[in-house]
Amino acid sequence: MKAVAFENKHKMAVLSRPKPHLKSPTDALLRVTTAGICGSDLHMYDGRTTLKKDTVVGHEIIGHRRRDWRSGIQYKERGSCRSSFQYSLWILRELSSRRHACLPDDESRQSRRRLWLYRHGTLSRRSGGVCLGSSRGFQLPEAARDRRRRVGRFLLLSDVFPTGYHATELAGVGPGKTVAILGAGPVGLLAAHSALLKGASEVYVVDGVTERLKKAAEFGATPVDLREGDPAEQIFVLRAGRRAHKQSLRPGEEKARGVDCAIDAVGYQARSDENPSTENPTQTLENCIRVVNSTGHMGIIGVFLAPDPDARNEDSKKGIFRVPLADIFDKALTIGSGQAPVKRYNEYLRELIVSGRAKPGKIVSHHIQIEEVPEAYEKFDQRADGYVKVLIRFVADHVKSKSAGV
Ligand SMILES: NC(=O)c1ccc[n+]([C@@H]2O[C@H](COP(=O)([O-])OP(=O)(O)OC[C@H]3O[C@@H](n4cnc5c(N)ncnc54)[C@H](O)[C@@H]3O)[C@@H](O)[C@H]2O)c1
Repeated sequence: MKAVAFENKHKMAVLSRPKPHLKSPTDALLRVTTAGICGSDLHMYDGRTTLKKDTVVGHEIIGHRRRDWRSGIQYKERGSCRSSFQYSLWILRELSSRRHACLPDDESRQSRRRLWLYRHGTLSRRSGGVCLGSSRGFQLPEAARDRRRRVGRFLLLSDVFPTGYHATELAGVGPGKTVAILGAGPVGLLAAHSALLKGASEVYVVDGVTERLKKAAEFGATPVDLREGDPAEQIFVLRAGRRAHKQSLRPGEEKARGVDCAIDAVGYQARSDENPSTENPTQTLENCIRVVNSTGHMGIIGVFLAPDPDARNEDSKKGIFRVPLADIFDKALTIGSGQAPVKRYNEYLRELIVSGRAKPGKIVSHHIQIEEVPEAYEKFDQRADGYVKVLIRFVADHVKSKSAGV
């Protein structure tokens, strides 16, 4: 079978690997039909992790369950299944249902490595879709099987849709709330979609990539182009311009100029507002702190990773950053952060897709074949040619001709 592997900084390769087999009672075997390239994969691609050469990557997958250990039987194309990007630490009972993506402080490095499997190669030790079937597998309706557009929608349940939704939970988004989202990558866009599904009254999405801002507008959010000036100031001006708000004030009352909730959907590879050709790892954090009103909430869903071999200074290499703590304290902000507990939201989000209320598939911009992956990584990393979300479709040779033109 074919697999995508990390070669070295800015170079991915398509390798041949032996077909996987079941290794433990919790394994399941999937025939993967579609996979995604995630913004998190770019940290590895950019050489910002300690990933080793030839490690097979990929943590967003959907496919047909072929075999599991318990039953020992082979399923024949029965039931689509998607896999979450985490190994659930189901041995840690107290964390298993609520925040299965978290670890207690004293957790061993070994477990930490297993948790962050997306960074160290999902399929490297359990190659080709052999996964923790009991905890990662998830049943999907028949509708998820056929046309590629439907497959795309459901595939996003592996990571970015629950992640975007989790960002809104971390930031305390609810009905009527005003929300600013920094970053219009797949995560930021699906945070915007989730915020609007939850009944937020105003959602602002900041980025500097035209196609991504257009997608934000398609979801019903207000795009804010950081190339046109300080994004926080732009949001203050946009908010001040809403006449109905002023009319709904009582005499003597004033409205705070910022938002109730702010989400950092970029993380440690954020570009500097002043000089976008350079990085400022705390740029979006600082903008969140500025744009959110006192007593507001912040959700940090963009990742901050360590060790980062390519960081600008010794502190950043260890994951230590300067943030204006006094402002956080003065404003009495509540901050949530961390990896998304995907399983927690999967069933609800699946139902929203099935009922037609959620349309996460709108973010998908490209469907490619596995041979095109090295080039797609480059374009996705450069945010070139309208690359927003790339899906890799695996079509068996004998059905390739049949499905052409779907
Ligand atoms: N916490 C989790 O569980 C989880 C899960 C998946 C992804 N992530 C992380 O979320 C982040 C976003 O993922 P993605 O797939 O959307 O990635 P992405 O790289 O496609 O998107 C990031 C976006 O941020 C924009 N950006 C850069 N600097 C900016 C700035 N100063 N202000 C505003 N926008 C800026 C970029 O133009 C880009 O559109 C990544 O750090 C990823 O690793 C976290």
